[in-house]
Order: sequence, then C-alpha cells, then structure tokens
Amino acid sequence: MNQQLFTDGKAYERLMGRWSRVAGAAFLDWLDVPKAMRWLDAGCGNGAFTEEIFSRCAPAAVSAIDPSEEQLAYARSRPATRTAEFRVGDAQSLPFADDSFDVGIMALVISFLPEPDKAAAELRRVVRGGGWVATYMWDFAGGGSPVYPLNKAMKSLGWDAALPPNPMASGRQAMQASWEKAGLEFVETEVIRIPVVFSDFEDFWSSTTMPVGPQGKLIDRMSADEKKTLCARLHDEVPAAADGRIAYEAFANAVKGRVPSGS
Ligand SMILES: C[S@@+](CC[C@H](N)C(=O)[O-])C[C@H]1O[C@@H](n2cnc3c(N)ncnc32)[C@H](O)[C@@H]1O
Repeated sequence: MNQQLFTDGKAYERLMGRWSRVAGAAFLDWLDVPKAMRWLDAGCGNGAFTEEIFSRCAPAAVSAIDPSEEQLAYARSRPATRTAEFRVGDAQSLPFADDSFDVGIMALVISFLPEPDKAAAELRRVVRGGGWVATYMWDFAGGGSPVYPLNKAMKSLGWDAALPPNPMASGRQAMQASWEKAGLEFVETEVIRIPVVFSDFEDFWSSTTMPVGPQGKLIDRMSADEKKTLCARLHDEVPAAADGRIAYEAFANAVKGRVPSGS
C-alpha cells in the first residue's frame, strides 16, 4: 500500500485538491446517477472528492475509506462532509458486507493499487445489483497528469521521474478490461479534460513540488543545486503567458459499469 505517499491532507489540497475537484465534478456529471443513493468513496484521501459527492449528487449516505489516518482526519474536518462515515480501509479488501451500497467509486486511486482488479471485484461485491461502479485516474502513460511537465523536465535531465506504482492501470483499455473482468455490465470509458492554471511560475513550482505525492517526495530529498537545475529546466518546459500565468491541459480516463441485477 502507498498510504505513506499521502499523509498530509493540507499539503495534498495545495498539490492536487483544486484539480481533483474540477476533474471529479466532470467525472460525477458523466456518471450521472440518480439522487439519494448510498455511496462508497474508496481511497477518499483528504475528502476533496467526497465533498463533490455531497455538493453535486445529494446522496442518502456516504461511507469513505482510506489507508491514511492523517488524510481521514483532514476529511473529517470538512463541514460539507460531516455526515459521512470515514474509516481506515483498503480498496482491495473492503470492510463492508455484500450489497451495502448503490454506487461504489474510486477517484484518483487505481494507479496506487498493486492489484486494481481486486479493487474492481471488491467494489462490485459491496454494490447491489443494478448499482454503479466507477473510477477515474490521470492518464499517466499518455502524459495527462497535472504534474506531467515536472516529470518531463526530470526525464530531460536524465533523472528518474517518480510515477505512482501502477501507472499503466490508468490506461483507458486497462480500465475497460478490469471492469469487464469484474463482471460489470454496460462498461463505458471516457476521457476527462481539464485546464490547469497557475497564477505565476512561483505558484506552479511551489504547488507541484509539495512533498506529498511521489514527485514531491523525490524532490524533497534533492540537494539545493539539483532543485535549482530542475526549477530552471521546468521554466523552459512551461512557458508563461503574457500575464505571467502558466496554463496547460490535464486529462484523465474514466470507466463505469453496472452490477448485474440479481447478482
Ligand atoms: C491521489 S489520492 C486521491 C484522493 C481522493 N480520492 C481525491 O480524489 O482527491 C490517492 C489516495 O489513494 C489512497 N490509497 C493508496 N492505497 C490505497 C488502497 N490500497 N486502498 C484505498 N486507498 C488507497 C491514498 O491514501 C490517497 O489518499
């Protein structure tokens, strides 16, 4: 498990919270499930996406799990998610009985799992027949992650870019195969594109190097000289607009499927 990568809810908010909210909202719109459903948010982290479930889907109830107690503490502090049940858990071995939910999702989690197929099967198990199982993840292999420019700059220096442990699990075909293998029906995939905008280079650098995800942790361990070299290379990779802003597009893949009725 990689919960040690994401243990600081506040730092995660600065690194990814704002992008995950925009992408998460687009994912929920595409999912388009009725109101008043019982939701499971597996790998909820600091609750950024959980908040979106409350604000967009009018859920009847939300349960959320994550391996990181520190992230959960931040999630519990959000006023919008106060009625959610947050508990420690692993998406590959969910601490819930069969058919406990109407909708089971994982937002930006699948590439952190050693066994994504197990998580798909577990989500199917805990969702009732006729319910929905879905996930979305930045397209790491295709260069869609908001931190892709940082990875590209590191590679161009001949340095190893830090990727999540299972980047290929975020591919559109891999997601489709995983959902079909879990026995889900009406499986569909989608590409979610979002603009990523920073007020200036300093905002971009300080946000993308927060020592919370794989890249940030790696950069945190670099010498001052290495950081300076990387910063200069990154400056070349992502030219600023006339007003100083840094803007590019991030993209994620999403998959959804229905649990067969009567199963
Ligand atoms: C990039 S964060 C996404 C958080 C949140 N879902 C969001 O959309 O903002 C990835 C999360 O996956 C969690 N995670 C890692 N391994 C996991 C596992 N085996 N089961 C469930 N969650 C896991 C991490 O603790 C982290 O909170």
